[in-house]
Amino acid sequence: MNSFELNKIAGALLASVLVIIGVRELSSVFYATEAANPASYPVEVAEEGTETDGGEAAEEEAGPSLAVLLASADASKGEKVAKKCAACHTFDEGGANKVGPNLYGILGRAVASGNGFNYSQAMSDMGGTWTFENLAHFLEKPSAAVPGTAMSFAGLRKPTDQANILAYLNEQGSNLALPTE
Ligand code: HEC
Repeated sequence: MNSFELNKIAGALLASVLVIIGVRELSSVFYATEAANPASYPVEVAEEGTETDGGEAAEEEAGPSLAVLLASADASKGEKVAKKCAACHTFDEGGANKVGPNLYGILGRAVASGNGFNYSQAMSDMGGTWTFENLAHFLEKPSAAVPGTAMSFAGLRKPTDQANILAYLNEQGSNLALPTE
């Protein structure tokens, strides 16, 4: 191999490197143009309304509404979920207060009004009555829904668990009509 041939090879190599760089540069120019176009992110626009709830809540709100979940909720599955509460709560009429208050007729009952139970300041201050909506929210993460609550329970993350237990609780003395929306 003489030096002339070597030069040709080096030249060919250099040329192909230049072509590769050129293609990359060009495609990055096209790519950047596309990325800068806000219309290529329609998903962000759709999520704007739920931004204040944080990513997790936004994700959950994308699922079926509570009314839809309740329409197909299963109280017998809810009874199984309620085993998680049984260490602290009874559900029967006139049942004892344990670590937490008796929950008979809890839906539609005034918040923090269980007979003879000593509620935390946080729960006493909440006011209102328990509805499907605020109880689902409370059970999802008690410490976040009522900061300072004495209920040390991590929460029911699954919307179907929440709906099923609400269906069960509703059968324990409340018997409210299910929400329609
Ligand atoms: C580790 C014990 C514990 C567990 C487990 C627990 N709770 Fe509670 N719960 C409490 C305590 C304590 C309170 C009172 C909270 C306060 O005063 O801040 C309470 C309060 C409540 C209230 C409000 C009652 C009222 O009279 O306003 C509801 C509703 C409730 N719990 C439902 C449940 C459900 C449903 C579960 C199971 C998914 C559950 N809890 C699991 C301890 C518990």
